[in-house]
Amino acid sequence: MSDLHDDKILILDYGSQYTQLIARRVREAGVYCEIYPWDVEFERIREFAAKGFILSGGPESTLDADQPEVPMALFDLGLPILGICYGMQAMAQQLGGRVENVGKSEFGYARVRARGHTALLRDIQDDVNEEGHGLLDVWMSHGDRVAELPEGFKLMASTDSAPIAGIADENRKIYGLQFHPEVTHTKQGVAIYQRFLHEICGCGSEWNSANIAEASIAEMRARVGDGHVILGLSGGVDSSVVAALLHEAIGDQLTCIFVDNGLLRHREGDQVMEQFAEHMGVKVIRIDAEDRFLDKLKGLTDPEAKRKAIGNLFIEIFEEEARKHNDADFLAQGTIYPDVIESAGASTGKAHLIKSHHNVGGLPDDMRLKLVEPLRELFKDEVRRVGIELGLPPHMVYRHPFPGPGLGVRILGEVKKEYADTLRLADDIFITELRAHDLYDRVSQAFVVFLPVKSVGVTGDGRRYNYVVSLRAVETIDFMTARWADLPYDFLDHVSRRIMNEIEDIARVVYDISGKPPGTIEWE
Ligand code: XMP
Repeated sequence: MSDLHDDKILILDYGSQYTQLIARRVREAGVYCEIYPWDVEFERIREFAAKGFILSGGPESTLDADQPEVPMALFDLGLPILGICYGMQAMAQQLGGRVENVGKSEFGYARVRARGHTALLRDIQDDVNEEGHGLLDVWMSHGDRVAELPEGFKLMASTDSAPIAGIADENRKIYGLQFHPEVTHTKQGVAIYQRFLHEICGCGSEWNSANIAEASIAEMRARVGDGHVILGLSGGVDSSVVAALLHEAIGDQLTCIFVDNGLLRHREGDQVMEQFAEHMGVKVIRIDAEDRFLDKLKGLTDPEAKRKAIGNLFIEIFEEEARKHNDADFLAQGTIYPDVIESAGASTGKAHLIKSHHNVGGLPDDMRLKLVEPLRELFKDEVRRVGIELGLPPHMVYRHPFPGPGLGVRILGEVKKEYADTLRLADDIFITELRAHDLYDRVSQAFVVFLPVKSVGVTGDGRRYNYVVSLRAVETIDFMTARWADLPYDFLDHVSRRIMNEIEDIARVVYDISGKPPGTIEWE
C-alpha cells in the first residue's frame, strides 16, 4: 500500500467558518489534507510537500490595510491552487487584478453561469441555458468582488451580482471561485473538489477508514515497540476508538484505566466493561470511585465548583492508578484534529492542547511518559468511521456527546446518590424511547435533568410531593448554537407517562424549550 500521506493538499486558512468543512470535503474525496494558518512560515508550507493548495475564505476585505495575504512564493512552486471567496480575491488582487466593494453583501443561493471551458468546471453543471452555457446552483457569501481579472486569467464563471465569480489561469493551474463548493447547497461541490483534487492536482484516493485504521495500527506498533501504554478510557467515542486501535496494534501492552465516578448513565460502567474487557479482551482496570466523588461533591452547589471538584478528583485518581504501572512508557490520549487546529491558531502553531475534562497531561514529571495520540490527524466523523472499521458497535460510536462531569452537571445544585440513581432511570427511559421511535439519530443530544424541588401529584387517594425532571433534546451542528428539538407530542406524552409511572420519586416531567443562545444545552 502506498503511504496514505503521499498525495496531500494544504489548506491555508484565512478565518472562514467553512475552513474545516473544506478539509472534510477533501478527505471525503479520499485525499489527506491539513490546515495551516495563512501566515505560517513559508518553509513549513514547502516542507509539507502538498500536491496542491486551497486558500479558504475569510471575514476580511482585501481593500483594508494589513489584510491577510497569499505568500507570493506559493505562486512560484508551480503547483495547482484553488482560491475560494476571500482566497480568490486576495490572489486576484496580488496578481494585478482589482477587487471592489459593491456596498451590499450577497449571502445565500445563487445561480452561476459557466463561461469558457476550464479544466475545473468542464461538464460539471446542474442545468444548461438557451445559449448552451452550463449553470450551477451555488452558495454565495461575500461582500467584495473581483472587478478586473489579473493578467493571464480568464473568466470561468459569473452571476448577475458577481460578473467575475470564477477565474482561471489554466497554464499555471490557478483557479478562483467566489462561491463555496464545500457547502452542501452548492449541488456540484463534491464534483468540483474531486475534479480539482484528482484531475488537476493528480491525487489518488487512498484516504479512507480501512486504510487509516491499517496505517495507524502499523504506526502505533512501530512507535510503541515493546513498550507499555496506559490510557484513560471514559467510554466516550474518542477514548473508545483509541482503545480499540491500540488493542489491535499492541494487545496486552495496553492498560486502560476506567474511572467510574458514579456520575455515569444507566449501566454505563458495566457496558464499558462488557464491550472492552469481555468482548474484546482489552486489559481494563475499573476503579469504582462513586463514594469518593460523592464525598467531594458534598455541600457543593456552584456549577463551576462542582466541575472543578470532579475534574481534579479524576486526575488524582487516575494518577494514583497510573503510578501503580511504573513500567508504563507511554500515555495515550484521544486528541483529535480540531483540537490540534484550535490550539495552533493563526501564527503560532506549536501549542499543545490537552482536553480539559480529561486532563491527564498533568501527570507528574517523574513518570516520564511519552504521549501517543493516534487520532491526532482525524476529524470526529473520521474517528467514528475508524471505530466502526475496528468493530466497535454503532450505538457506541454514534452516541450523543456526554459531558466530562457527567450527571454532576445534570443534577442542579448539590449532587446526592439518590438523585443520581433517580436521574439515571429517567434518562434511560427517555433515551430508550428515542431509539425505539427512531428519533435518537434525529437529535444531536438528548438527556434528562434532575431538579431537586418537590411538586405535588396525586396517586390513588393521596397527594404526594416528589421531584421534577426536565427532558432536554436539541438539534445543532456545532453545539455553539442549538434549537430545541420539535419532538412529537405523542412521543413526549408516552415518555412522561412512563417516567411518572415507573419512577416513584418523580411527580412531574417538563420539556425544555430553550434555545442556545440565550440558554445553554446543559442546565449548569
Ligand atoms: P453547553 O451547555 O455549554 O454545552 O451549551 C455544549 C456542549 O458541551 C458539553 N458540555 C461539556 N462537556 N465538560 C464536557 O466535557 C463540561 O464541563 C461540559 N459542559 C457542557 C455539552 O454536553 C454540550 O454537548
